[in-house]
Amino acid sequence: MSTPRFVTIPDHVAIIMDGNGRWAKKRGLPRAMGHRKGIDAVREAVRTAADVGVKYLTLFAFSSENWRRPEAEVSDLLGLLKAFIRRDLAELHEDNVRVRIIGDRANLRPDILKLLEEAEHTTRGNTALTLVIAFNYGARDEIARAAASLARDVEAGRLRAQDITPSLIEARLDTAGIPDPDLIIRTSGEERLSNFLLWQAAYSEFIFLPQYWPDFSRETFYTALETYAARDRRFGGLSAAKAAPAAVVV
Ligand code: IPE
Ligand code: IPE
Ligand code: MG
Repeated sequence: MSTPRFVTIPDHVAIIMDGNGRWAKKRGLPRAMGHRKGIDAVREAVRTAADVGVKYLTLFAFSSENWRRPEAEVSDLLGLLKAFIRRDLAELHEDNVRVRIIGDRANLRPDILKLLEEAEHTTRGNTALTLVIAFNYGARDEIARAAASLARDVEAGRLRAQDITPSLIEARLDTAGIPDPDLIIRTSGEERLSNFLLWQAAYSEFIFLPQYWPDFSRETFYTALETYAARDRRFGGLSAAKAAPAAVVV
């Protein structure tokens, strides 16, 4: 394995893990096999993020729109999530990983909800990598829930509408307390957000990779981090290099 070559490590990397189905199809396997193989890639991504010093890793595991898939596939995906938490929670905890779940928890199956809450509760005091799992997550749904929560405060007279600011909205999002993603990676060649972190992605860097998610390796992650390190983030201002010289007075 080659050594990492990047210099700037993003604090927060978010990944749209896409292409499990196509990975399987290419091999003449059922889609479920792609999802199963995708779990190995999840483990590798978590280890790599922790090793290089990424502080937050957000993984898009199941979207609020993924319920539209056939019942058998939904059930495979839920089963895999449960198996992952059951099998890996102890190791994640041992590695000082803190787990956070984002997404709508209302109306989730009780067994799933219990496992997700257990994962958060067990690891709440951990201080190494924060692994954010986006489950039943949709950004528009998240923003609508935040808006409803603010509206309830206005209705109750605890908040004035004119006092609503971006930071007040941020504090009501599922990601409250988590910095915005510096880097969003999507595998499988698709170049879209699919309702992922719409608010938080305002200044994120994007990397779209052709590999299907089960083929995402430590080396793939390193290459993406290297690409990220070469990006010039300006946040609406000027880059550090260009802004450095004092203003030229003509
Ligand atoms: C990503 O792979 C997994 C989830 C969306 C849960 P897909 O299942 O979307 O695979 P493709 O995009 O059909 O190949
Ligand atoms: C996005 O992938 C959701 C996850 C990776 C969990 P999809 O496969 O659901 O997205 P679309 O349907 O191709 O946009
Ligand atoms: Mg897909």
